[in-house]
Amino acid sequence: MTETPAPQVAVIVVAAGSGSRLGHAEPKAFVSLAGRTLLERALASVFGMRDPVQVIVVAPDTHLAHARRVASRAGGAASVDVVAGGATRQESVNRGLAALHPGVRTVLVHDAARALTPAALCDAVVDAVQSTGHGIVPGLAVVDTIKKISAAGEILGTVDRAALSAVQTPQGFPREMLTAAASAGSSLAATDDAGVVAAAGYPVSVIAGDPLAFKITTLWDLRRAEALLGARVPAQSAPRTDTAPRVGTGLDVHAFDDDSELWLAGLHWPGERGLSGHSDGDAAVHAICDALLSAAGLGDIGGVFGTSDPRLVGAHGDVFLGETLRLLAAAGFRVGNVTVQIIGNRPKLNTRRAEAEALLGSLLKAPVAVSATTTDALGFTGRGEGLAAIATALILPEPPADPDLSWEA
Ligand code: CTP
Ligand code: MG
Repeated sequence: MTETPAPQVAVIVVAAGSGSRLGHAEPKAFVSLAGRTLLERALASVFGMRDPVQVIVVAPDTHLAHARRVASRAGGAASVDVVAGGATRQESVNRGLAALHPGVRTVLVHDAARALTPAALCDAVVDAVQSTGHGIVPGLAVVDTIKKISAAGEILGTVDRAALSAVQTPQGFPREMLTAAASAGSSLAATDDAGVVAAAGYPVSVIAGDPLAFKITTLWDLRRAEALLGARVPAQSAPRTDTAPRVGTGLDVHAFDDDSELWLAGLHWPGERGLSGHSDGDAAVHAICDALLSAAGLGDIGGVFGTSDPRLVGAHGDVFLGETLRLLAAAGFRVGNVTVQIIGNRPKLNTRRAEAEALLGSLLKAPVAVSATTTDALGFTGRGEGLAAIATALILPEPPADPDLSWEA
């Protein structure tokens, strides 16, 4: 028998709340969502992560045996630690922290109530914690206009939503930062772990979250989750049964334009000649989108985004990559990895390669490699008339969302 190395990452799944706003007799994590409990669905994402992790479930003390049964069903042979929670979420997290294995270096804390969170989001949080060495939380841009109001409901002002992020879980931290912050207990009022860690003076930043990681709080949220599970497979297409990865290639060219700022590989390059185009002219991002779309059989960037949509004037890579990823997910794929090569004399990529790779990787929730070459002074790139980029993408079919709804009969 071969020894598998002890996991360096742990995920604490907090499931000890009562779910007072949902209003079920059962604690919220044990409420059924399309035939499986919220806890079981949350654990399915955790066990879908790329690498093995230590899994700690924090359950109500009345439901420890039930939690163990759910955990062993979701985890198969993998072992899960189940511990009793406390009166507040923070106390429940602290009980989970006490069960960490010695070798764990990175800790994710995840709400069981975010039952539809994609495994790829958990992996992206781990990657970002490990590459930055600090706390990472997924967050979504706030789309509603937010008003500050008085207790009587009078509007006092509008909050600048550009400066807001609606944060989700899993939230990830280097172990020592989270345990030190939790034991300092300086922020008992914090409603999430980022609040506790930030109150202790450690840096925490936001990466792109996922709409599917929404928290099931009210009955309406539960209905929405049921509807999403029912709607996973578009009615017009039969469920896909193939499991092989797929590859795609994309190429894009833009001419230099002295009146534009340069945006390339998702980054702004002050002082460099810009590229012409309806959007920001980011040839590397456009080549990546084409590679991903063609791998999934979804056409190409011109067909998907059009070349005259006024909403895309000056749009940057996050818009194109975010929408491409959403289309891929809807078609049942996630990104395996992507490479993109930029062909041109300038800008010199090497000083910012890591930055570009980290940004594109966090947008695509997958490894992205960026390289560059010149063409020995030949052709339009050699003459400095423009830039080309060529991308290759590998995409992977997602396992069916719901292989067996009868599990929790
Ligand atoms: N949680 C916990 N221990 C607590 C309170 C909450 O482990 N004492 C967990 C919940 O189980 C949930 C997550 O923290 O997975 C997020 O909390 P929330 O959505 O507020 O859940 P509840 O506290 O159960 O719901 P409510 O606030 O409506 O009572
Ligand atoms: Mg609560």
